[in-house]
Amino acid sequence: MLDIKSLMVFYENALAVNNLNLDVRKGEIVGVFGSNSAGKTTLINTIAGLTLHLKWREQRKGGQRITIVGAQLFEDEDIGKLSPSERVKKGIVLCRERHPVFRDLAVEENLRLGGFLIKNQAKVKKSIDLVYSIFPPLTKLKTRKAGLCSGGEQEMIAIGMALVARPKLLLLDEPLLGLSPAMQAIVVQALKDIRKLEVTVLLTEQYARPIMPHIDRGFIIENGTLIMSGTQEELMDNPEVISAYFGM
Ligand SMILES: Nc1ncnc2c1ncn2[C@@H]1O[C@H](COP(=O)(O)OP(=O)(O)O)[C@@H](O)[C@H]1O
Ligand SMILES: [Mg+2]
Repeated sequence: MLDIKSLMVFYENALAVNNLNLDVRKGEIVGVFGSNSAGKTTLINTIAGLTLHLKWREQRKGGQRITIVGAQLFEDEDIGKLSPSERVKKGIVLCRERHPVFRDLAVEENLRLGGFLIKNQAKVKKSIDLVYSIFPPLTKLKTRKAGLCSGGEQEMIAIGMALVARPKLLLLDEPLLGLSPAMQAIVVQALKDIRKLEVTVLLTEQYARPIMPHIDRGFIIENGTLIMSGTQEELMDNPEVISAYFGM
């Protein structure tokens, strides 16, 4: 479904993603693991088109800071030059790190905004109901300002907004970051529900432990470079992975 080939992303002379190959097959949950600054956000933002968007924005001001090379294929189509919204229309939807929400808007208004590219309001309404079924705690918070919700609730809203955009490939940047174990469990359960909807998931995390049992395959990156990849079983059987990424 997604094929990233020999991807390199430079900020100025600094290499944030180094000759990276990664693929995601339809129906999978795939994890990208790496420490802080490993290049996870750059990678996922590049797939979503945000890095290209930033490059264009800087170019308009005369900047030449960002370089992106390599192939980005989605359903066998070259998406490397598409804007973020064109990628959303293709079904690639990103939920950014640290659960960004519109703090002054109510929970339901946030969810509705997730569907801003969809004209059919009945379809949006249906998707919002689906989000409430995946995240039951949000049902009671429909009219609460998102800024007053807890971090975990905001993560549910942020993932919910992405779901309302009807992704084929959902990109989640550190969805468990900063959440309590109870909230992590809710998000992990939601991933299982999301998979049943035939949504493919590519997610990043710094700490593999809470999510590893729920992924099909994983990629481990350090300093933008892929150092290991494999199925969940292969990674969990690997002593190096266990000591470096499970803290055991
Ligand atoms: N907009 C940017 N401009 C310049 N350097 C950046 C920018 N975003 C990230 N970087 C650098 O790229 C590297 C990878 O960062 P990032 O992709 O955010 O990693 P992670 O998400 O794994 O923490 C880091 O060295 C970071 O400082
Ligand atoms: Mg990051």
